Amino acid sequence: MDQHLTLALTKGRILQETLPLLSALGISPLDDIAQSRKLVFETTNPSVRLMVLRGSDVPTYVQFGTADIGVSGKDVIMEHGGDGYYEPLDLGIARCRLMTAGVKGQSVRGKQTVRVATKYINVARRYYAEQGRQATFVKLYGAMELAPITGLADEIVDIVDTGNTLRANGLEERELIATISSRIIVNRAAMRLKHDAIQRFLDAISNRLVVHDA
Ligand code: PRP
Repeated sequence: MDQHLTLALTKGRILQETLPLLSALGISPLDDIAQSRKLVFETTNPSVRLMVLRGSDVPTYVQFGTADIGVSGKDVIMEHGGDGYYEPLDLGIARCRLMTAGVKGQSVRGKQTVRVATKYINVARRYYAEQGRQATFVKLYGAMELAPITGLADEIVDIVDTGNTLRANGLEERELIATISSRIIVNRAAMRLKHDAIQRFLDAISNRLVVHDA
């Protein structure tokens, strides 16, 4: 069985924090990812190649087995739903929080139906339902903080790291939905068919994480 591995990585901050981990395992891209327009990269390990994708596409590539392994934020995994892959390892990188937020001092508790703007529609729908709160949802693709200020929505569901973006826009943190970090995900069929190569990769990366934490 072909034991070559394709890894799907997320552009941006997760990539910056993942590349040093991979490099410690002897996996470094042969081209400079930041300077290249390529989407697939051969690496210093001839059995491993990298694909660099938009974050929300990583679980989809792993679900369908186009990538064997992915590195994905827990927020993206929660929104995707987790079909078709395992989530064996928490890398503990790119940590942040998935929160509800709204205009500072402007409570929505009295409202019968709350209007929520977010790119995490599935997560938000589940969360408000679990809280027994009636809500309608508006899908946005960025700059969520604008929605409550302009009256497009009462609340947003978004990632908060330092809280600076909320503060700069007169918003406040409300409820914590989940703490977020980047996870390794593995296609279910690949886990069986390429078990040795994937297990070696997972062992190597978790050993590295222990050393990293110490
Ligand atoms: C995220 C998020 C917030 C900001 C929070 O956006 O959507 O806008 O970071 O960070 P802070 O609490 O440290 O201010 P990001 O910059 O990742 O861009 P995006 O809108 O494309 O997701």
